[in-house]
Amino acid sequence: MVPFESPTGMSREEYAPWGGMRFNEPSLKVEYADGTRAIEWVFEEHGLERSRASQMLWLRFRDRGYPLTVTLYYRIHDGHDVIERWVRLENSGGSGPVTIEQALSADWRPPRRERYRLTYLYGRWGKETQVAQVVLGPGKVVLESRRGATSHQCNPWIALDPEGSATEESGEVWSAALVWSGSWKIVMETTPYGEVHCAGGVNDFDFHYRLDERTQLELPAFVGLYSNKGFGGVSRSWHVYEREQVLPEAPDAVRPVLYNSWEATGFTVNERNQMELAEKAAELGVELFVVDDGWFGARNNDRTGLGDWTVNSEKFPRGLNPLIARVNALGMRFGLWVEPEMVNADSDLYRAHPEWVYHFRDRSRTEGRNQLVLNLAREDVREWVLVTLDILLSEQNIEFIKWDMNRSFGEPGWPDEIGRNPERVWLEHVRNLYGIIDELRRRHPQVAFEACCGGGGRVDLGILARAEQVWTSDNTDALDRLRIQEGFSYAYAPRVMMCWVTDCPNFVTKRTVPLSYRFHVAMAGALGIGGDLSRWTPLEREEARGFIATYKRVRSTIQNGLLYRLRSPRAGGVAAAQYVARDGNEVVVFAWGQSQQFGETEVLLPLCDLEQEAHYADTMSGATYSGAYLAQKGLAMNLVGDFDSRMIHLVRTASAR
Ligand code: DGJ
Repeated sequence: MVPFESPTGMSREEYAPWGGMRFNEPSLKVEYADGTRAIEWVFEEHGLERSRASQMLWLRFRDRGYPLTVTLYYRIHDGHDVIERWVRLENSGGSGPVTIEQALSADWRPPRRERYRLTYLYGRWGKETQVAQVVLGPGKVVLESRRGATSHQCNPWIALDPEGSATEESGEVWSAALVWSGSWKIVMETTPYGEVHCAGGVNDFDFHYRLDERTQLELPAFVGLYSNKGFGGVSRSWHVYEREQVLPEAPDAVRPVLYNSWEATGFTVNERNQMELAEKAAELGVELFVVDDGWFGARNNDRTGLGDWTVNSEKFPRGLNPLIARVNALGMRFGLWVEPEMVNADSDLYRAHPEWVYHFRDRSRTEGRNQLVLNLAREDVREWVLVTLDILLSEQNIEFIKWDMNRSFGEPGWPDEIGRNPERVWLEHVRNLYGIIDELRRRHPQVAFEACCGGGGRVDLGILARAEQVWTSDNTDALDRLRIQEGFSYAYAPRVMMCWVTDCPNFVTKRTVPLSYRFHVAMAGALGIGGDLSRWTPLEREEARGFIATYKRVRSTIQNGLLYRLRSPRAGGVAAAQYVARDGNEVVVFAWGQSQQFGETEVLLPLCDLEQEAHYADTMSGATYSGAYLAQKGLAMNLVGDFDSRMIHLVRTASAR
């Protein structure tokens, strides 16, 4: 053994506490009250607990000289190739507080192979969940958010396949995702000895957590999953796991067709224009009508009013209830936008409580979208947010909340707490956010939640445990959306992916595409409408009514079926996706053609997961195909010109099963 290494530092440790000759990314680093900074732990005990459909193993270790115990948890669920791992730290007292400097949730170690390829999701505002792939070489790849929220720039989800050998439908893939909506870090490290490990959890950047005597700290889970059916297999496993183990709704629930007036009326919402839009939305078959930003305080633009959650009496002189009553009478549920973690400097709330925002003494209070972040770690702020929203939900028949968050943290200070661990905000903000939503759900079980963060900046398994759906991106351009939605589908189920049909030219890209193409793209997830219906022609409204009716017939297959990405939009040409109902009886195929190349009108799409001997009928054309034909020869699509698209709905008619 060379003196530069030790057996411990070179071993495949399940969860490495920093101390001794360890130089790789540790999972745990602490400082004891007497200045000692190394952990020397010994195994104490273990337990195995079985509940109805899951099993949990826990392993407890303790520092041999200090009262710190570390419990590693592993939970599996019947029917899922998933392991949930997390950690609990406890200071049992006697030696003062323990400062936690880094406490990751788990360290995954895929089997030893020559090299791994990493797949991950990156982006920015308006361009979330883009797929990236890199071959891991010696050293580290660090994916992270330091923004206080999950972020647009990187999503806490990764996949590793050995030697880049996996394809869409074959090969081994190990994948992992964090159950956390705050700053996070995932480190993929290839050690000098060729071992790859993947450690992840709450970001240790600027983080210190003082664990007082006789207190505990539980870290969020880092979930691992395996499939030998390629990236498609991994995605389907994540989708099933999310539906059956994560989401707050029943596995087979379907999301309603939604209308959101943001792109139509912006901040100029009022009772009259929302009533008009509601009438038009109801005629199309919309089931949930959502009023977005602008209904409260002096919120006439994004510079004022945020934080003042009382109904604007000029826009809604009779309050929201007459509008809600009309929406309900039209057969729709009513939803409302809020952004409770934020405040404009020009607001009554900020004038009354300037100390409530994150800030450092004698430093600027940097604004993003003209707003500041409320310090949700403070007990008074947490209580105020909970009470304010509780009143809102109690006084109005609101059945849906779109919870937005339109800036990252800056100057995350808490001057009143100096000397008392203000750095805990990185953890406490998110825990209190979760606590508030959980409590609101308990008090108002009829309310569903949509998580939004300037589009898809807060998409992760932590928020999905308490939000039925997420806003995928502010970019509603159908062509751009194909890539955003494809990346999203690597990790997250179609049911939670909110997609709107909006107006053209699109407000972000200025692109114009046919209404049918916009519908076909938005129908690939949870369908919503976001256009200005007062400007839609009778013909467009008729077309929309047809698409919505069709969507309702097939949505359980799309939202809850098994997704096969037949052709990637990244490859150019025709992109396509197939959804198979869980019982195999229905199949939905979308093909989206961007631009026809001369002489290439017909595209053949071999389908997946069909019963070879069964027959499948196209519900629109009446044509019937055998499963073998569709799998081997493929479904023929004729896409002509630019932005042509199709949705085919097949029903199994005769089965050999
Ligand atoms: C950002 C969201 O992503 C939009 O959908 C909209 O709700 C605006 N905020 C409102 O300010």
